[in-house]
Amino acid sequence: MVWKIFHYKKTTSTNDVALEQSSTAGGKFVIVAETQTAGRGRRGRVWHSLKGNLFFSAVIPYPIQQCGTLVMLCSLSVLQTIKALCPTAYVQLKWPNDILLNNAKVSGMLLEKGEKNFMIVGIGVNISQCPDKSQLLYPITSLADAGIKTDCNTFLNLFLHILDKNLATNNIFAIRQQWLENVKGLNKNIIVRQEKGSIKGIFLGIDEKANLLLNTENGLQKIMVGDVFYD
Ligand code: BTN
Repeated sequence: MVWKIFHYKKTTSTNDVALEQSSTAGGKFVIVAETQTAGRGRRGRVWHSLKGNLFFSAVIPYPIQQCGTLVMLCSLSVLQTIKALCPTAYVQLKWPNDILLNNAKVSGMLLEKGEKNFMIVGIGVNISQCPDKSQLLYPITSLADAGIKTDCNTFLNLFLHILDKNLATNNIFAIRQQWLENVKGLNKNIIVRQEKGSIKGIFLGIDEKANLLLNTENGLQKIMVGDVFYD
């Protein structure tokens, strides 16, 4: 099945358009926009949508019960796209679905449920510039900052090609293994910040639903939502 790609100059959020179109569409498709007026990130945050960066939503028929696998697949595909463009790039994953380049965030992902059997994977990649660094809690970067020259169309097409290969594999154990091999902070002390406070512990891995497994002073905890910080 080939990807249909719909280009927009401006949207509120590509995830909004994707949700709307998922009620009538068949197959798999992508909504891509040059800019978003209401780009959103995880946990109700704003995603600053500067011109020259990539904002898209991939709409994929996928069982919602397996959305943990889909997040892993898509995160790995972004990491592999960057590596394909620059084999020496220092790229890592950060739970739950960030991609780090030289220890700074270069891409984020927002998974939402579409209509019918569709899942919507909204992805932002800092291709040519970074939003105002002073407003953020964590370091950010762009491909351009790291000396990786590309453009939005090249990145998107390469990503879809790699994603197709990963979707075809669909072996959850292999995917989780690959995810673990590329994640930052495995078996190290981390801090997970949540709305109700922070939890410290050793990052042991993830379960099949991509929940984080943390060995804390109160025993093993499964974490579904939060932001990871490194000790
Ligand atoms: C995060 O890191 O918090 C997730 C960021 C997701 C941003 C992308 S940009 C394309 C799509 N449209 C949105 O409004 N959000 C996602």
